[in-house]
Amino acid sequence: MSRLRAYAPAWIKRFVWNRKHRNEALDPDGCPHEMVDSLAAMDPNASLVDFGCGPGNLRAALRSRGWKGHYIGIDASDQAIEEGKKYADNNAEWHVSTIEDFPVLTDKVNTICFCESIMYVRPKLVPAVFARCHQSLAPGGRIVIRVAHKDRHYEYIELFGKLGAQANPPIYVLPKQ
Ligand SMILES: C[S@@+](CC[C@H](N)C(=O)[O-])C[C@H]1O[C@@H](n2cnc3c(N)ncnc32)[C@H](O)[C@@H]1O
Repeated sequence: MSRLRAYAPAWIKRFVWNRKHRNEALDPDGCPHEMVDSLAAMDPNASLVDFGCGPGNLRAALRSRGWKGHYIGIDASDQAIEEGKKYADNNAEWHVSTIEDFPVLTDKVNTICFCESIMYVRPKLVPAVFARCHQSLAPGGRIVIRVAHKDRHYEYIELFGKLGAQANPPIYVLPKQ
């Protein structure tokens, strides 16, 4: 199914994910703990982009651990973004966009996350997505990725290796180039 979703046109991705998100509320515990743990040590004021953010489970989990930095949540599903916006957070911004179409940021950020979302992008497009991410990162910044299934997503994992990722499965880290 994830392979289908990676190759589907943007409007189908939006339709499928909107259906899924319609009945899904914010759940900070729904964010994989390895992802939260790998980010918990960051500077409390560091900025973070969350690609494929859903309702912002990662944002809520990190806030509960004392993180205060600027949060940018991006998701193809407007349902997910509307759910995320319901929770008061004066240091968060939200965008409905596919990962593939999101532009380079003018204000550089410290961390860019893909928590179980990069596998919905065609592998062929991933290097270009990461190249744009590198341009959006501040010096010393990094891309942090979590994949859901190491067997099902081996194609992506191989790609992260080729791009120079530091691996601590299921977390992969690409320092800014
Ligand atoms: C498995 S969920 C993960 C949600 C969230 N990152 C978490 O861990 O709680 C995948 C998310 O990616 C979003 N998504 C899927 N394909 C996308 C794409 N091409 N561009 C942007 N978002 C996408 C979906 O709407 C969904 O919210």
